[in-house]
Amino acid sequence: MNTLTKMALGMIGQLKPQPAQGDAARTLTLPPPQTEGGLPLMQALHQRQSQREFDAAPLEPQTLSNLMWAAAGINRPLLEGRTAPSAMNSQEIDVYVALPEGLYRYDPSAHALRLVSATDVRRVTGYQDFVDRAPLDLIFVADHARIKAVPVAQRESYASAAAGAMAQNVYLFCASAGLATVIRAWIDRQALSQAMGLEADQQILLAQTVGRPEKPA
Ligand SMILES: Cc1cc2nc3c(=O)[nH]c(=O)nc-3n(C[C@H](O)[C@H](O)[C@H](O)COP(=O)(O)O)c2cc1C
Repeated sequence: MNTLTKMALGMIGQLKPQPAQGDAARTLTLPPPQTEGGLPLMQALHQRQSQREFDAAPLEPQTLSNLMWAAAGINRPLLEGRTAPSAMNSQEIDVYVALPEGLYRYDPSAHALRLVSATDVRRVTGYQDFVDRAPLDLIFVADHARIKAVPVAQRESYASAAAGAMAQNVYLFCASAGLATVIRAWIDRQALSQAMGLEADQQILLAQTVGRPEKPA
């Protein structure tokens, strides 16, 4: 769906998810992440970039596993420490994954995706047209109930910094794995919040599209 149509539908409250493609499992258990290998860090930094042309093919389970672990996985099990920092280790950002078969929330402890809604939410994750077709869109959602120790006025900036760190992890993983990605803030937040069934304390911060780069025609 093109940007203008999304904007027009958004204005009348009609930017909605599409029916799911295929059956959505209640839990998608991911294979263990591959935490070794990949490009050396300086080479990944050298190749980091935003790309906006995606092949529609789904990512393999191992690639999806590595991606989610890079974004928000547990890298120090004894401390439940994560691959990305958060203020006072609040871990207030949930990463949702919009797949054609359903909307999932990443559960770092189980390293699994939990079904939130058996609908295809991809096109509601941003005004740009490529978000509909790419195999997945991540959505970074702050749960402000988890950062009660931080003064209200600072919660959003702290949470945005934490989401930004996750997004950069995803950028570097994508650079290493030869995937395309772009972080996005241009979102109809009201439409997406409704489509995701978010609670009052939950705030959409950013979305990020991931997929293989589109093959040349
Ligand atoms: C907070 C933030 C919001 C962004 N929002 C969008 C967006 O909505 N759509 C988009 O295509 N790119 C978005 N970008 C990506 C920037 O356009 C991109 O990073 C910039 O053009 C530099 O390109 P590079 O990432 O390849 O270095 C955003 C980047 C940031 C940091």
